[in-house]
Amino acid sequence: MIKRVPSGITGLDNLIQGGFPDGFCILVSGPPGVGKTIFTLQFLMESARRGEAGVYITLDQRIKDLRNQAKQFGWNFHEYEMGGFVRFMRPSKGSAWNQNITETIKESKIHYEILPVIRDSVAEIDAKRLVIDSLSTLTLSLPRGFGDGEIRLFLKRLVDEVKSLGVTSIVTSDLPKNSKWLSRDGVSEFVCDGVIVLDDVVFGEDPVRILRIPKMRETEQDRKAHFFKITSDGIVVEV
Ligand SMILES: Nc1ncnc2c1ncn2[C@@H]1O[C@H](COP(=O)(O)OP(=O)(O)O)[C@@H](O)[C@H]1O
Ligand SMILES: [Mg+2]
Repeated sequence: MIKRVPSGITGLDNLIQGGFPDGFCILVSGPPGVGKTIFTLQFLMESARRGEAGVYITLDQRIKDLRNQAKQFGWNFHEYEMGGFVRFMRPSKGSAWNQNITETIKESKIHYEILPVIRDSVAEIDAKRLVIDSLSTLTLSLPRGFGDGEIRLFLKRLVDEVKSLGVTSIVTSDLPKNSKWLSRDGVSEFVCDGVIVLDDVVFGEDPVRILRIPKMRETEQDRKAHFFKITSDGIVVEV
């Protein structure tokens, strides 16, 4: 029997046999503004409410803005942060995250340079869930001329390492509108255990949001596209 981790996203767990398999790394991708960050905040709030610690690594937004975004949906992370259940982190420019990133990958030193930031914070609060928002910012920050092979290696190592921490994780990826790809880099969908695509489409005259799950290992998943809404309680998937 696989242990499943409730996503916190209303309606989603019904489509994936009760939740994400424990320890999986899930890619959530979609165009800007579709709801990826809200999705990850909802996932982390679910964790906090269950008394399980979570780490949120943001590469896109200020932590203050994330907290405010969460408050719009009634998710007040403050008490959980104070209680040591939630930790937001934004690796700044010049931190180990960005420094010598080229050498880091070329010399296969990713384990020494980048991943300790994640590993330490997960260990310090004994986190069970982890979010990295967004992976595309990370891969786009790689120097030009980086080959597909190197990016693939980088992401593979990152995902392997994240999985070795024993956390259930979500990484996000920005997709250009109407993209046929599942991630910005074209690689994450292969290395992640599951993929959830959020999309904005115009249906008749109305813009609607759609969620689908092209990949979820070890899961008999619902493959249909489902409408979802962003409500005052967060993301609600219509089933
Ligand atoms: N309080 C709210 N109620 C409903 N929808 C909202 C609310 N706040 C933001 N949104 C919607 O969520 C979108 C932003 O979601 P976000 O998760 O930040 O997108 P992404 O991370 O995919 O770029 C906004 O474009 C807006 O459509
Ligand atoms: Mg975002």
